[in-house]
Parts: sequence; C-alpha cells; structure tokens
Amino acid sequence: KTKVKNICCIGAGYVGGPTMAVIAQKNPDIKVTVVDINAERIAAWNHNDLDQLPIYEPGLDDVVLEARNRNLFFSTDVDAAIDAADMIFISVNTPTKTYGKGKGMAADLKYIELCARQIAKVAKTDKIVVEKSTLPVRTAQTIKSILQNTGNGVKFQILSNPEFLAEGTAVQDLMAPDRVLIGGEQTELGMKAIAALVDVYSSWVPIENILTTNLWSSELSKLTANAFLAQRVSSINALSELCEVTGADVDEVANAIGKDSRIGPKFLKSSVGFGGSCFQKDILNLVYIAKSYGLNEVADYWEQVIIMNDYQKHRFAAKIIQTLYNTISGKKIAFLGWAFKKDTNDTRESAAIYVADQLIEEQANIVVYDPKVTAQQMQSDLNYLNTRSETENETFLTTIVDPYETCKDAHAIAVLTEWDEFKAYDWQRIYEAMQKPAFVFDGRGVLDHEQLRTIGFQVYAIGK
Ligand code: NAD
Ligand code: UDX
Repeated sequence: KTKVKNICCIGAGYVGGPTMAVIAQKNPDIKVTVVDINAERIAAWNHNDLDQLPIYEPGLDDVVLEARNRNLFFSTDVDAAIDAADMIFISVNTPTKTYGKGKGMAADLKYIELCARQIAKVAKTDKIVVEKSTLPVRTAQTIKSILQNTGNGVKFQILSNPEFLAEGTAVQDLMAPDRVLIGGEQTELGMKAIAALVDVYSSWVPIENILTTNLWSSELSKLTANAFLAQRVSSINALSELCEVTGADVDEVANAIGKDSRIGPKFLKSSVGFGGSCFQKDILNLVYIAKSYGLNEVADYWEQVIIMNDYQKHRFAAKIIQTLYNTISGKKIAFLGWAFKKDTNDTRESAAIYVADQLIEEQANIVVYDPKVTAQQMQSDLNYLNTRSETENETFLTTIVDPYETCKDAHAIAVLTEWDEFKAYDWQRIYEAMQKPAFVFDGRGVLDHEQLRTIGFQVYAIGK
C-alpha cells in the first residue's frame, strides 16, 4: 500500500488554498506545500495577519493558523515542491477560452498543460498526479500523454478528484463533504493510486462517502453536477417571471415543490441570476464538448440554462430602467452587494457586473457598497467587459465603504448580493435620506418587503 508523505498542490487559489489547508489540518503527518507563480498571492497566504489571506472564507483563518508552518507551507518554488512530492494536485484555473477555436465556450487548458510539462521536466521519482481543477472529460488522456513521453523512466498515475466545495461555505463543505469523488485507471497500479488518495481523505471523511470510479466518470461528474445545480436556478428563475405576471409568489411555489422529496428544497432561490467562476464556464464547456461529438440536441438543451441566466440579469436591469420612468441618466442608483454570493470576496461572473454595465449604458451613476469587495476589484470587473473606456467606468461607478452614505440621495437601491447585514440596516433612516419616490429592487429576495412598504418604499422583488 502506498502511503502519501509529501503533497504538492499547484495553484493557491479558491480551491487549492482551502482544500490543502484542510487536508494538512486533518493529516498532520503529511507535509503539504501549496505553490503558485503569483508571488503576491503566496505572500498573502503567508501573512501573519490572517485578515490578509488572499481569499475570504468563514473559518479558514483558524484552519490556516493551526496547520501553517506545521505541515502546511505556501511557496513560489514550484520545482522544489514537485521534486519533493509523491502526490501532486493540479488546482490551476481553467477559464473559458478567449481566443481561437472554441473561443467563448471551451475550457482553456493551457495552464493545465504547462503544469503537466513542468512536472514531466522536474520529476525524478514516481508520482501520483491528481486533477483537482475542473476539466473536460478525457483530459487525463492529454496529461498522461505529456507525462509518459518524457523518457526519463519516471512512472505517473493520474487521478481525477474534482472539488465540489461552494464558495462562502468552503471550509464547512471540505470538513463534511456530501461525497469525495476519486477516479482512476482500472488497473492494478491505478487502483493502488486511488487507494493512496482514499487514505488521505479517510483521515476525516467516512469511507462510505468516498466514491471511486473510472477516470472519465469522475471527470464528467463534475461538469454534470454543476450543470444540474445551475439548471435548478435557471428553472426557478424562468418561473419567477411567470409569477410576476400571474400573481403567484415564487418563494411560495419553490416551497411547495421543494416539499416533494424527489425535487428537494435546496437551490430553488430565485435571484438576479447565478454568478461565480464555475457554473457558466462549466456549462459552456459541456455544451462545447457535446457539440464536438456532434450531439447538437444535447448541446442546445444545456445552453438554454445560460441563455435563461443572461436573460434574468438583463430583465432585472431593464426593470430598474423602466420603473425609474425610462430615464436614469444622471440618477444615483445604490448597489448593495457586488460579490456573486454572500460570504465571499469573489466577484467572478457576478450578476452585479452585468446589471451595472447595462445601467451605465443609460448613464446612471452607480454607487456600490459591498462588505468584502474592494473598489479596485469592481473597476477591474467592469473594465473587463470592454464596453467603454476605463475613465468612463471610473466616472460612472464609485464605491463607498458605508452603506448609509451609499444610499443617501439615491433614486433607487438594488440588492445584488444576499449579505445578511443588509437585513439588519435601519431602513427608516435609509428611506429618509433618499430621493422620493424611493425604490428598492431586491434581486435576492432577502429584505422584509412588507416592512419596507410600510416605511414608504416602492418595492420590486423578483418573482413577486
Ligand atoms: P484561481 O484562479 O483562484 O486559482 C488558480 C491559481 O493557479 C492562481 O493563483 C494561478 O496563479 C495559479 N496558476 C496558474 N498556472 C500556474 C502554474 N503553471 N504554476 C503555478 N500556479 C499556477 O482558481 P480556482 O477558483 O481555485 O479554481 C481552480 C480550479 O478549480 C478551476 O478548474 C475551477 O473550475 C475549479 N473549481 C473551482 C471552484 C470554486 O468555487 N472556485 C469549485 C470547484 C472547482
Ligand atoms: C458552485 C457549486 O455549488 C459547487 O459545488 C462547485 O464546486 C463550484 O460551483 P459556487 O459557485 O461557489 O459553487 O456557489 P453556489 O452556492 O453554487 O452559487 C452559485 C450562484 O448561484 C450564486 O450566484 C448564487 O447566488 C446562485 N444561486 C444559488 C441562486 O441564485 N439560487 C440558488 O438557489 C442557489
């Protein structure tokens, strides 16, 4: 039986950082080194002040505090960590391609290939290479082909071990995962490698929650899980508009259908649209893979989840414009929230970016408050869309660190993230400082709409 003693993880991002911190915390006898080419990120992971960690996740600071410099290390020396490790996780980003064949659809695997080549170049002893990044089905074949053709006699086993954590609850999800999935070659050596990784997780995950499959099932299960989850959000969002025109209430409908044990109550919250680095990217990738095998009906089926989501963001912005008498030029519109969901500082694909962009096209002044997102991040998110010049974006989008100041003199407030603190604000005070009529557009269904109406607000809520 192979016992893993030294783990290296390439990529110290939202997945690599928390995942390795928990693996190290639960396996004090394994040395875990997380490496990244981004020196600033590594420095932040090593920062004495735990508030300076590069990502915000509830509970992460305690895990890092316990394991860091005991058996958890963060470093920029990628080669040294690869050389020393017997198991190497690849946890680098796999964004949607922005160029060439498959542009806007396929996953860009250049960072994955670079890792494989670097491992091939550096490795002097046999290694187990674990795909932690989300990858198109059959990527292990590519990695294997790169690793096996180095000619230096080193033997590699490739495993697929997709990560199912959600941001904002990463530590909780890692501590008590619904399941851990490990795919590997169905050969004697493949099974041995699978067993070695099962051993790492079984330090804290009950063995019946650790599933082992062949490589392709594991790779495809990750894209499938995200597609199913996103599809639920698009399904309820599709119904939200029907609720608005018929007098049904989307939360009541969601509650009623969620009681059916076959449907279940989770992931049925209607919203301004899903964001995050995964759902859109992974579904586009699934659509691309289906198309590349000529499965056009399969591709169209899943693409609809994205089309619905884009429509939901667009519809929310259009509702604001229309309600504000079709002229928002020069009007201050306050945004509460910019992150793609609560309890994270991550803004990738956040609905707020697209709603802001659409309102700025109408020359509205957007003023944002988010408890965890920096002004610089918001500007860079907007600039990334390339709709207008950076200077114009700076004029139209500003940030205030105080929610009351953010809402002062605004014509409307739009809630884009479901941060808990928004519920606890003094809404009477906010109302008094606003322009009248004072509008609230609750894109997350989190505020007490009855209370707001009693105060005097005009409230629009999705699906109501
Ligand atoms: P991220 O962008 O936060 O982190 C990736 C890191 O990899 C970056 O810091 C980058 O500098 C580093 N990197 C890239 N190439 C490198 C190289 N050659 N050598 C060393 N470092 C390199 O990305 P993430 O959110 O952690 O996602 C990583 C993967 O996990 C993606 O495939 C994603 O789809 C998947 N995933 C993400 C989540 C999530 O919630 N974010 C959940 C499950 C799976
Ligand atoms: C997702 C998957 O849940 C996770 O398993 C995978 O590993 C990575 O992708 P994440 O994107 O971090 O995780 O967050 P998630 O909680 O899934 O939310 C994604 C988006 O959907 C958010 O914008 C959220 O606000 C939205 N959402 C979620 C809804 O609008 N309604 C819901 O009912 C649930």
